[in-house]
Parts: sequence; C-alpha cells; structure tokens
Amino acid sequence: MPETSPKPLVVAVVGATGAVGRTMIQVLTEKQFPYTELRLLASERSAGRTVTVADRDITVELATPEAFEGVDIALFSAGGGTSKELAPEAAKRGCTVIDNSSAWRMDPAVPLVVSQVNPDDLDWHEGIIANPNCSTMQLMPPLLALRDAVGIERMVVDTYQAVAGTGHKAIVELEEQVRAHAEGREKVANVYPHVIGFNALPHIDVFLDNGYTKEEWKVVTESRKILHLPDLRVSCTAVRVPVFVSHSEAVHVETREPIAPARARELFAAVKGVVVQDDPANNVYPLAMEAAGSDEVFVGRIRQDPSIPDGRGLAFWVVSDNLRKGAASNAVEIAEVLVERDWIRKGSERRAAAAAGGSPA
Ligand SMILES: NC(=O)c1ccc[n+]([C@@H]2O[C@H](COP(=O)([O-])OP(=O)(O)OC[C@H]3O[C@@H](n4cnc5c(N)ncnc54)[C@H](OP(=O)(O)O)[C@@H]3O)[C@@H](O)[C@H]2O)c1
Repeated sequence: MPETSPKPLVVAVVGATGAVGRTMIQVLTEKQFPYTELRLLASERSAGRTVTVADRDITVELATPEAFEGVDIALFSAGGGTSKELAPEAAKRGCTVIDNSSAWRMDPAVPLVVSQVNPDDLDWHEGIIANPNCSTMQLMPPLLALRDAVGIERMVVDTYQAVAGTGHKAIVELEEQVRAHAEGREKVANVYPHVIGFNALPHIDVFLDNGYTKEEWKVVTESRKILHLPDLRVSCTAVRVPVFVSHSEAVHVETREPIAPARARELFAAVKGVVVQDDPANNVYPLAMEAAGSDEVFVGRIRQDPSIPDGRGLAFWVVSDNLRKGAASNAVEIAEVLVERDWIRKGSERRAAAAAGGSPA
C-alpha cells in the first residue's frame, strides 16, 4: 500500500436501522470518521435493505459472528440480548466493541466511558467498552467539574425523558397519539403501559425489588462507576414525558465544600462539550427542542439549594439530545479517542507488544 493510502479501518454499526444506529451513521459521516469500510448490520428483518451513506449505497447485512471478521471497531446498538451474544464473538475476532446497551456496563472488566469524563479508562479495555445509559451520560460532564473542584457527597436527580429513548416505535406511537387527539379519536397505547401523549409516566424500564425502576438504578450505579466514586449517595426518579427527542433533568447536588452558583457556572462552562444557558430574567435556560440535533450538554437554572447547610447545595437543569450525546455521539467520540491514542487493540495485547519491544502500549 502506498504511504499516502489511509490505514485500513473497518467500522461496523450493529442495529444500523434503529433510532440510535441511524444517528451513529449520521455522526460518523458528520465527523468524517476515517473509516475505509463501513459495514451495516441488523436482524433478518432489515438484512438486504440498502442505506445511503455519504452518497454511497450500502447493503444491510445480517449480524452474525462471522460478520465481524476483519472489523476493527463495532458500534453496537441492537439491544442487550444481541450485545450479550455477539459482542464476545466480535471481540474474539479482534474487533473492539463500543456497546450502547446495558449488557456490559456494570461488568468490572468492562470500562464504562463518557468521552470527556473518563477517557483514560479506555486504556484497560479487553475488546468491549460500554457506553452509559443516556440519562446518566448527560449528568457526568457537569458532575465531573463539581467532583474535581469541591467534591460530591450526594445527588438527587429527577428526569424528564423523551420517547426517542425507547426507540423508533415509541416516536411513531407518540406521533399517532397526537394525531388521534387532534382528530378526537381514542389514543391507543402499545409501547408503554399507558398513553404517553399529554401524559407523564413515572415508569421507565422494569421495577426492581427496592421500588426503584431499572432506569433509575442505572443512574445510581453507573454514576458511581464513571466518576470513580463508589460511595456516592444517589437517588433518582425517572419520568417519561411526551417529548420526541432530548432528556431533561433536575439535579440537586450536595457538595463537600461550599460552592456559589457563579463559580459553578464557570466550572461547568470550562468542561468540553458543556454549554451554560443561564439567564432566567430573559427566559434563557436549556430546552429539549433546542438541544435536539446537537452534541453538547446544556446546563442552566443554576442556583443555591438552601435545603443544604453551609452553601454546599447546588440545584441545576441539564438537557441533552439522548440519541446523540446520550448514545451515538459518545460512542463515536470513544472511537475517536481509540484511534487518536492508538488504543483500538486490547490493553493486554498492547502491553504484551510493548514488553516484547513492539509498538508502544
Ligand atoms: N434510544 C436511545 O436514546 C438510547 C440511548 C442509549 C442506549 N440505547 C440502546 O440502544 C439500543 C437500540 O436502541 P434504539 O433506540 O436504536 O432501538 P430501535 O430503534 O428499536 O432499533 C433497534 C435496532 O436493533 C436491530 N436489532 C434488533 N434485534 C436484532 C438482532 N437480533 N440482531 C441484529 N440486530 C437487531 C434492529 O434491526 P432491524 O431493523 O433488523 O429490526 C434495529 O436496527 C438499545 O439497547 C437501547 O437500550 C438507546
């Protein structure tokens, strides 16, 4: 291969026809991710269909273990069952998986990474890397700033989550319920246990024995892992609202040291990918509709929480596009870090090669 040829980099998107998979393809294209081949994989329902990517038609293939032969990086977004089954098969074939499902997130051998919060954790991956749950993801960049500046003792989060978080079928269901409402027809619920149009459902994912939902408990456990704060006290109520795209969150944090809202604004604005929108006098605060389509995490309504003594309480509002930063963009950002740092190969392989005098780890 001539020196000017790009280094071959084969990327696969698993679940390429879904809400997140389609956004992954869009983000890879927008960022001009330097792949030399893109493979699109899905179930037998979509295999054989053609998807146009950057003016090229690509045929969707069936996701099988063999489909990962020769693939360097696979972005998975096809549900936990598919990830449990196929991610180890892909890793066995030398492919590094960046997985969007909850299948591997709490596995102690799998790094759980938000690109600008804990990228160094990617160093010890062994072929599978987990992308956090969307509601946890957007909390992490502002919390990183507080953790490093004043320490975090406790956080209470209430979420207002968009239907896009459930997938394409939920988007279609909300659209249909809005139409039915306008036309005076009965609104029918198939995806959720109740009608989501014009409603708020305090129920995301299944209920656990402790009374929390699995979605709420993901915020508890994933936050601790990403922030490296195993004892962080967290409580969460997760609510599905009739918004198409972007999750909103009301956050109350108890810090170790006092922190004034003005200082918090400065700290948040200094984090890569965080935008402070905080001018309530002029009705400026983060909004789901405005955040949709961008990769940033928007923070506003930053104020002291007077229920915590000594100026150690902070309340704020965080909004982000759940399909982009909450899923696809973070996955692509992780892939970018792997390429930049030459960390696509497993940590153990890189270290063995370095010990043998080969390429540096
Ligand atoms: N939506 C979000 O905000 C969000 C955020 C973070 C994480 N996630 C996670 O991402 C995953 C996908 O979410 P989504 O919202 O994109 O769902 P979706 O719109 O329902 O899409 C599901 C995708 O998975 C594919 N698929 C399903 N079963 C498969 C199988 N057995 N083998 C191969 N492909 C299969 C589907 O392909 P077919 O076209 O062939 O059916 C489709 O491409 C889920 O694990 C979800 O928890 C979603």
